[in-house]
Amino acid sequence: MKILITGGAGFIGSHVVRRFVNTYPEYQIVNLDKLTYAGNLENLTDIEAKENYTFVKGDIVDQSFIEDLFEKEKFDCVVHLAAESHVDRSISNPLEFVMTNVVGTVNLLNAFKTHRTNPDGFFYHVSTDEVYGELGDSGKFKETTPYDPNSPYSASKASSDHFVRAYHVTYGLPVKLSNCSNNYGSHHFPEKLIPLFINNIQNNKPLPVYGKGENVRDWLFVEDHASAIDTIFHKGTNGETYNIGGNNEWTNIALVKLLCKLMDSKLGRPKGTAEELISYVKDRAGHDFRYAIDSTKLMTNIGWRPSLQFEEGLSKTIDWYLKNEEWLNHVTSGAYMDYYKEQYEER
Ligand code: NAD
Ligand code: TYD
Repeated sequence: MKILITGGAGFIGSHVVRRFVNTYPEYQIVNLDKLTYAGNLENLTDIEAKENYTFVKGDIVDQSFIEDLFEKEKFDCVVHLAAESHVDRSISNPLEFVMTNVVGTVNLLNAFKTHRTNPDGFFYHVSTDEVYGELGDSGKFKETTPYDPNSPYSASKASSDHFVRAYHVTYGLPVKLSNCSNNYGSHHFPEKLIPLFINNIQNNKPLPVYGKGENVRDWLFVEDHASAIDTIFHKGTNGETYNIGGNNEWTNIALVKLLCKLMDSKLGRPKGTAEELISYVKDRAGHDFRYAIDSTKLMTNIGWRPSLQFEEGLSKTIDWYLKNEEWLNHVTSGAYMDYYKEQYEER
């Protein structure tokens, strides 16, 4: 079976590619990635020489390139992760999100619809819980929760989800979808909360907490997301959506304080050192208050469980960043500095 994984050089994609290449030597895995600021082949050095793995550099927005690739390769299945993924960037540049997340997804759907030859093959779209909008103090997102996206990022992902379903209903294209909560783990680009704060604590830089730090996120270890994708890929039903979450809600400020405590201890600094770096800054525009996922369908229907407790996962994540200073130095040089200035200097 030949599987196209898009966005495989990014954070979650690299974990999914690694899992599929290592677990299923009988599958041919093709990783298609544009290598934007978020894509990095250093994330895949351990598997790049494997016989069942190929990398293709390319842009999913480039219609003729995508057509040619699908015509030539006749993929059996697609696992689609390529996206612009950061909410703050979507506020600064929404059109980029429409191009990659919406137009790019439709290009892939068209090419797959035209060139697929395996009747059992399907298009698996990896999406986010942010499409459901925000929750108040109680309740959880279920697969039946109406879509109500608030950020340009979540609006673009909601749109791409709708296109995937529309291709299923209109053209009978076999599809699967999953909507996952916030991920954390190794190889996470340091623009998102956890890796950004790990990097700043290491470098004694301020920790910019948006608003009062009372917003709530439901955190899942990235390898548990990859295992859920594996489970849904193999056991999920055609046309169905599965919510994936860690049942692990944290206010941002409680999470940041836990991170500070773990970092002080790992860096051998006196207790309370990192907490002094906390700086409350202007809130994000349209900041969703709370996300929480109900994964009952995935757990009971096809049998998935997260493997790690949060503190253990966070500790493993910090250890990875401390051991991989070179990775962090590479990704935070050049354009990262401009991004940081633009997002945080005037906040
Ligand atoms: P990421 O930003 O780390 O990686 C995205 C990857 O897509 C990068 O390798 C990038 O080079 C590639 N890419 C971007 N534009 C492209 C284009 N036009 N053509 C080809 N490749 C392109 O993102 P991530 O956090 O790994 O997220 C992966 C997927 O999972 C996304 O679809 C995202 O919406 C979804 N998701 C993320 C989270 C999370 O917490 N990070 C949670 C749920 C769902
Ligand atoms: P983020 O990691 O960007 O993920 P998402 O917005 O997709 O949930 O942010 C997680 C939470 O942390 C979110 O409530 C915004 C907050 N946050 C900060 O307080 N400061 C920061 O510098 C960043 C990047 C995020």
